[in-house]
Amino acid sequence: MTNIPAIYQGKLNTLDQIKISPLSRAYTFSDSIYEVIPYFLGKPLCFQQHIDRLVESAKLSGLDVDFQLVSVEMKELAKTLVGQDGYIYFQISRGVDLIRSHLYKDDLEPERFGYAMPGSFPASPISAMLCEDNRWANCHIKSTSLLGNVLLMNQAKAQGCQEIVMHRNGYMTEAGASNVFYFDQSGTIRTSALTENILPGITRDILIKALNDTSHQVTEGSCSIEDFDHSPCIWLSSSTKGILPLTNLIGTEYRFQEDHAGYKEVLRVFNAAMQSHLSVLE
Ligand code: PDD
Repeated sequence: MTNIPAIYQGKLNTLDQIKISPLSRAYTFSDSIYEVIPYFLGKPLCFQQHIDRLVESAKLSGLDVDFQLVSVEMKELAKTLVGQDGYIYFQISRGVDLIRSHLYKDDLEPERFGYAMPGSFPASPISAMLCEDNRWANCHIKSTSLLGNVLLMNQAKAQGCQEIVMHRNGYMTEAGASNVFYFDQSGTIRTSALTENILPGITRDILIKALNDTSHQVTEGSCSIEDFDHSPCIWLSSSTKGILPLTNLIGTEYRFQEDHAGYKEVLRVFNAAMQSHLSVLE
């Protein structure tokens, strides 16, 4: 991990050389927002949508940021991924305090920090655990305040799982670091409607729009966790997983039907949509 290209306040460096104050509000309060943008053979998937979501997270967090600069810095980092798969992580904190205080000063300079991580994305199905969503009520903000996700995902890890599927009052919200789709008993693809309780995933959006032109249109709405017992296929969507089925979901009767024709079609449509997004970039 020594020569991962990174940037802090506009200065390119390697990740291990970046120095950040312990009084960064990202460190003391998780007072920061972030994005993860996937790259395929050096090309970003839906770059502008990630910027737009970062702008929205900043607005909802009362952060005043120069997004022109942020885009330039991300593109600078991305140059190091030329011809490679990987992702850009980019985080913006409210700034560095002189002394820790919940009440922030109005003149703090936001901190921009990012790095470019080469690597490939997982393709094998994973297992997950169903659990109650006890996170805060603004999960539509892509905040680094992820303690709720971290604690639940590590409880699931102790059960041999790599992910969780969360619900509030018996209705699915999302996964720990992904959105969730499934085929219900009648063969309809369902996913949770966007609310303040879930992140508006870019991968989710790519998939919904791609399936719109097929016979497998997605129904966005309330998703009862009782549906899982009878589902032949539940899958996750995220920038670092693409779409990835669950083998099983602890707490339900769900078992992945590996040769499910509907899911094979979903995967084909998703891959084609991804290729068409990437092919419009020079
Ligand atoms: N996570 N929901 C949550 C809670 C997430 O953290 C993520 C992404 C998603 C999917 O969003 P997108 O399709 O735009 O990646 C949904 C990123 C990858 C992460 O935190 O590493």
